[in-house]
Amino acid sequence: MGEVREAVRQRYAVVARQLAVGGGCCGGPSQQGGGGRGCGSPYRAEDLTELGLDGGLSLGCGNPVQLAELKPGETVLDLGSGGGLDVLLAAQQVGPEGHVYGVDMTDEMLELANRNRDRAGVTNATFFKGTIEQVPLPDGAVDVVISNCVINLAEDKAAVIQEAFRVLKPGGRLAVSDMVELQPLPETVKHELDAHVGCIAGTIPVDAYRRILVEAGFEAPEIRVTGMEAVFGGSGAVGSAAVWARKPVD
Ligand SMILES: C[S@@+](CC[C@H](N)C(=O)[O-])C[C@H]1O[C@@H](n2cnc3c(N)ncnc32)[C@H](O)[C@@H]1O
Repeated sequence: MGEVREAVRQRYAVVARQLAVGGGCCGGPSQQGGGGRGCGSPYRAEDLTELGLDGGLSLGCGNPVQLAELKPGETVLDLGSGGGLDVLLAAQQVGPEGHVYGVDMTDEMLELANRNRDRAGVTNATFFKGTIEQVPLPDGAVDVVISNCVINLAEDKAAVIQEAFRVLKPGGRLAVSDMVELQPLPETVKHELDAHVGCIAGTIPVDAYRRILVEAGFEAPEIRVTGMEAVFGGSGAVGSAAVWARKPVD
C-alpha cells in the first residue's frame, strides 16, 4: 500500500474509534478546524431519526444521497462508506427491492458501519472491504455510484473515476460530494500528509476533476461548488462541491 493510502487508512482507523464520542468533517473529531469548515449536517432530521442515527456519524462534506435522487429498486455503491450513514440513508430510499453496497479499506470503519446497520435494522445494505481504486464488484453492477468526501483522498483519482464508470450500468449515474481546490494551495501544504488525510492537500481544481470524468467516458458532468471551506493566509483555498455525471447508454 502506498504511503499516502496507508496514512489515510491509519487516520480513519483512529477516527472510527473516536466516532463513538462525536463526529467531524473529513478528518474527524480530532481534525483541527473540522467543524469550522462549514461541515454542518446536510441531512434531514426525520431521515436520521427513522434510522436512530446521529448526523455526527458523518465525515462527509455534503449529501450525495440527496444529489443522487434515488428511486425504489435501484442498486447503489458508496465509495469509502466510513461509518455507513450514506449507505443506510440510501438503503431507506431504494427500499426492499433495492440494495446498497459500501466499500471501505479500513477494518475499524467496516466494523462501525456493520454495527450501525444492525442497530438501525437495515437489511438491504452490505459493507465490504476493498479499495476505491479496485472495487471488488463486476462490470455494470450498479445503477448509481455515490461518495462523500473520499475521492480527494485518493492519489490516483483517475483510477477511482474509471472504476466508478466500470461498475455502473449503461445509463447509470455518479453523484459525489467532495472537496476541490478553489485557489492553488501553497506547495508546503500540498506535501503535508496531515493536510492530505484532512481532505485538503489531495484536492484538485474543478477543471481537472471535470477532465478526469470526461476522459473516463462520463457525459454531461456537472460540478457545483457548494462552499468555500478553508483559506490559507489568502494564498489558497479549498471548498466543497457537488459532482454529477452519467455513463452513456451505449
Ligand atoms: C472522510 S471519510 C468519509 C466517510 C464517509 N463517506 C462519510 O461521509 O462519513 C473517508 C473514508 O474513506 C475511506 N477511504 C479513504 N481512501 C480509501 C481508499 N483508497 N479505498 C477505500 N476506502 C478509502 C476511509 O477508510 C474512510 O472511511
